[in-house]
Amino acid sequence: MTLKKPSVIVTRKLPEAVETRMMELFDVRLNADDIPFDREALGNALTSCDVLVPTLTDSIDADLLSAPNISARLVSNFGNGTDHIDVAAAQAAGISVTNTPDVLTEDTADMAMALIVAVPRRLVEGARIIEEDRFTGWSPTHMLGRRISGKRLGIIGMGRIGFAVAKRARGFGMTVHYHNRHRLLLEIEQEVEATYWESLDQMLARMDVISVHCPHTPATFHLLSERRLKLLKEDAYIVNVARGEIVDEDALIRMLESGTLAGAALDVFEHEPAVNPKLLALDNVTLLPHMGSATIESRIAMGEKVIINIKAFVDGHRPPDRVLPT
Ligand code: DGY
Repeated sequence: MTLKKPSVIVTRKLPEAVETRMMELFDVRLNADDIPFDREALGNALTSCDVLVPTLTDSIDADLLSAPNISARLVSNFGNGTDHIDVAAAQAAGISVTNTPDVLTEDTADMAMALIVAVPRRLVEGARIIEEDRFTGWSPTHMLGRRISGKRLGIIGMGRIGFAVAKRARGFGMTVHYHNRHRLLLEIEQEVEATYWESLDQMLARMDVISVHCPHTPATFHLLSERRLKLLKEDAYIVNVARGEIVDEDALIRMLESGTLAGAALDVFEHEPAVNPKLLALDNVTLLPHMGSATIESRIAMGEKVIINIKAFVDGHRPPDRVLPT
């Protein structure tokens, strides 16, 4: 494919530096108002551009991708996860898909580590006491949390982000355990002194903190099912900065309500952007609005990746971050 100035439609507002560069390079339609596209707008976009730049808030399913007259040849996702895109249907329709890995790894791992500390140490609960003017003075038994150092961290999904969390956790004195589709090379495991668990069930039963870092695919939907959640120790915590669908949220809430799980920190939700009101009523949770990669540095770098992928594709090369069906 050789296009001089490809027509590009971007579905959400991006950092200014990224939009400026896109305007120089492409015949681009931006979304200054940042109002998410509805289904009809997404369908129209796919039939009126060469390249669509969606985000995780756009559901691009097989129906949309099999519509007649689709002009888009590339869906260059602004984001790492592509579970909102039917990649197999795109491939069948002759449309390539790319994403933006690597550049958000450190920031997302920082957020996971912050949450791994925040929930056992009750950071948000404590801040609320000050905000609500309820602090009446220090006491030996007030706001006691749980120690992080010396505890076992179980990482589900030891890809780039999982490994970056492992490195941070070692700095906090935690021991690192992981479950992954494939075991890492020994020298990589040794870097963080990680223990591999082939059986997720067995790992879950022995961890103090679980941190979720696998992608959401049909195989990982409700990977942490009610049965598996019940394997966790009563004093264990769960952190999820990956995708809400990986955890059975209703089952998790039941356990948090009944005290059969110590706490949870969620940056993502099963029915995002909806947050289950039962979660809001709990004290032993920390909830964030999907902000794991929300730094200006990550978001500009993600935009730069999108631009590189589009340029490579338009110049007839294989885009560096091509996503294939799982
Ligand atoms: C992604 O890129 O998939 C993240 O969830 C966005 O922060």
